[in-house]
Amino acid sequence: MYRILKKQELSPGILEYDIEAPRVAKKALPGQFIVLRVNEEGERVPLTIADFDREKGIVTILFQVVGASTGLLASLKEGDSILDFVGPLGQPSELSDHMGTVVFVGGGIGVAPVYPIARAAHELGNKVISILGAKTKDILIFEERMRAISDEVLITTDDGSYGIKGFVTNAIEELIKRGEKIDQVTAIGPGVMMKSVAEATRPYGIKTVVSLNPIMVDGTGMCGGCRVQVGEETKFACVDGPEFDGHLVDFHGLMARGRMYRTQEAKEKDHICN
Ligand code: FES
Repeated sequence: MYRILKKQELSPGILEYDIEAPRVAKKALPGQFIVLRVNEEGERVPLTIADFDREKGIVTILFQVVGASTGLLASLKEGDSILDFVGPLGQPSELSDHMGTVVFVGGGIGVAPVYPIARAAHELGNKVISILGAKTKDILIFEERMRAISDEVLITTDDGSYGIKGFVTNAIEELIKRGEKIDQVTAIGPGVMMKSVAEATRPYGIKTVVSLNPIMVDGTGMCGGCRVQVGEETKFACVDGPEFDGHLVDFHGLMARGRMYRTQEAKEKDHICN
């Protein structure tokens, strides 16, 4: 069993848990994820690792309450335990000390998984520019943490309540317009956001990495549930990813598959909540 050592609500409906998971923490690398199951009846939920502390044996996860499983997870309290916590899974981010200027883009809750990757890139001596996007100021997360490991932070809100009014792509355009030489963009967030980022960088030939979070079942490459078309190849996000070349990902197919289970998810949520 994996104990919840700390529970924090970062903004309405967005929760951060510190989980006691020493073996996962020991091996975790930026960009990887875990799959958890709250109890015997619970479904498997893949969540990207938002942070880890090898010495204390803690893995931090962050999630937004959107359905039955995240609702069940949110009902737990500090001191409660999770039945399964499997990981670290997936390929770690490709990082080096000669990446140059890297722009890290986090949309909504996607800022959390961006954080350990950006921190590692920063620690390796690369220039880190972070773009954090949210619908509104109240639900912006991780601002202070990202400022601490970034050379520059740009914030965008859809309603203009903080930072640049608009989307993360507006901030990318600003950087390009001012002549910033960008060597790589790494974007994590909703599919539609990552697709827009890839389209914004494509004309400039800027390497763009996206981290996908499709439906996953086993998380070990056996079920095919997380398959995604990347260029000419079919890849499994759980073992080949979660990071892929954003210019090659078939976002249309990815988002269509994500919508397939909405009716069942709503029914299950009703079942658990009523
Ligand atoms: Fe089953 Fe990836 S989750 S193959």
